[in-house]
Amino acid sequence: MHENLWWRSAAIYQLYVRSFADGNGDGVGDLAGVRSRLGYLAELGVDAIWFNPWYPSPMSDAGYDISDPRGIEPAFGTLADADALIAEAHALGIRIIVDVVPNHASDQHPWFIAALTAGPGSAERDRFWFRPGRGPSGGEPPNNWQSIFGGPAWTRVTEPDGSPGEWYLHLFAPQQPDYNWSNLDVRREFEDVLRFWFGRGVDGIRVDSGALLTKDAALPDVAVDDPPGPSHPFTDRDDVHDVYRSWRAVADDYPARVLIGEIWVPDAARLARYVAPGELHTVFNFPYLSCPWDAAALRQVIDETLALNAPAGAPASWVLSNHDVDRIVSRYGRADTAFNLARRRYFHNFPVDLALGTRRARAAALLTMALPGSVYIYQGEELGLWEVQDIPDELRQDPIWRRTGGADPGRDGSRVPLPWSGTEAPFGFSPPGAVSEPWLPQPKEWRDLTVAAEAASDDSMMRLYRDALRIRRASAALGDGAMTWLPAADGVLAFDRLADAVGGGVRCVANLSGGPVDLPPHAAVLLASGPLTGDGKLPTDTAVWLGV
Ligand code: NOJ
Repeated sequence: MHENLWWRSAAIYQLYVRSFADGNGDGVGDLAGVRSRLGYLAELGVDAIWFNPWYPSPMSDAGYDISDPRGIEPAFGTLADADALIAEAHALGIRIIVDVVPNHASDQHPWFIAALTAGPGSAERDRFWFRPGRGPSGGEPPNNWQSIFGGPAWTRVTEPDGSPGEWYLHLFAPQQPDYNWSNLDVRREFEDVLRFWFGRGVDGIRVDSGALLTKDAALPDVAVDDPPGPSHPFTDRDDVHDVYRSWRAVADDYPARVLIGEIWVPDAARLARYVAPGELHTVFNFPYLSCPWDAAALRQVIDETLALNAPAGAPASWVLSNHDVDRIVSRYGRADTAFNLARRRYFHNFPVDLALGTRRARAAALLTMALPGSVYIYQGEELGLWEVQDIPDELRQDPIWRRTGGADPGRDGSRVPLPWSGTEAPFGFSPPGAVSEPWLPQPKEWRDLTVAAEAASDDSMMRLYRDALRIRRASAALGDGAMTWLPAADGVLAFDRLADAVGGGVRCVANLSGGPVDLPPHAAVLLASGPLTGDGKLPTDTAVWLGV
């Protein structure tokens, strides 16, 4: 693989700074904490780190409300810390990807503050979506759009003279005003932000909420069940592709940089457009992330993923979890193993069989890391952490929890600080003598899932990830390339990854059926997610990598 195309095969670790490691003892993760743990990530064997937003932010949405896209949140550190971190990671052979959030600002961003002051009709307001309200005194929102976090997508402002004024659009929380992408200042600003971070040595950009940027300026009402799509006034519009063509032109000025899209669109053909030549290099695989633990469904998603990327020659990406969805061990331990944002509010009432979920998550890890393309690992996934469903209400931070009146538990349960060592909270997350507790409480059972405990145990989730990443990196057959399905019994996924005509390859078999199955022909068992049966069969909910 050409060095410049590193991202086609990369194993990318998603690092959620607030919850990774706390260097200064205030209970919140920071860049000093990350720097002190880079050795762990190098040993784990990841190729790159994607950082969730690390910029100055009032933290109304955990950093996705950005008040300065060229700085570092003071609670996390300084720009000098980021520079040092980038250099130290590079020295360890780890690349750095940062999150860029183009759909919205923070309501504390200087542009938004200026827009409030400048008043209706001003150039400052045109960078956002300000509109008069409807109804006799303008007391009704300009249209019926609902916020993705619950409640109306509009908030009314008070004008500088104290009168009730215009409304502004926010597809997420009120503290996240949407940018107007028809405005040239906005376009230039983001191209400049890209250059700023590429210039500091960052290797890639993750584009947040990438299908939402452009809106129909007529801001029409929507039908309640109007599906997202090209005719939708705020999702997946054709003109969003102009943005990515200009971003790609910027990225192409810097060798070996990658643009990764967070694009939620249900239609594979529409998703494929984002990786068309001259646009994004790759997109997150949400269909795979949402897929139930079911062989036929997984095979269908895998085939569709490869088919959608094929015309552009883009690599597929494979994602089991992230900071917005339930942790995989819990999901696979429920009767319903699919993930669906709209139904999250019900999941936390379902019983969870953690042993079953863990077993499946181990098998899923081997399946996922054998597929062609890049793979994402959300911090803690490699430890087998579960969704913390019993966070006390008064400690919950996610705006989704508040804006749905507690109906949707939100995402805090997947964001609990990592356990590193020791037998009691904060499990090495904060240094000895820390002045504050971790910003979300850690379950006491995580004493068995600390990095230290798992390093010392041969059959831990972390050791499985480490072994798999080591084999994946060493094998020319894994990562980018082609795969070939093998004939297999119902409920079994079996495929080959062959390096070339002469070199050896890897044969992956995942058994999601109800009973043990025979292994196909092989030269050696390279790695298994669990023990084989006494007579050498592959048990239920187990996967294996075979050398061929
Ligand atoms: C998608 C991010 O992944 C999520 O965490 C965030 O809340 C929304 N975008 C809004 O920025």
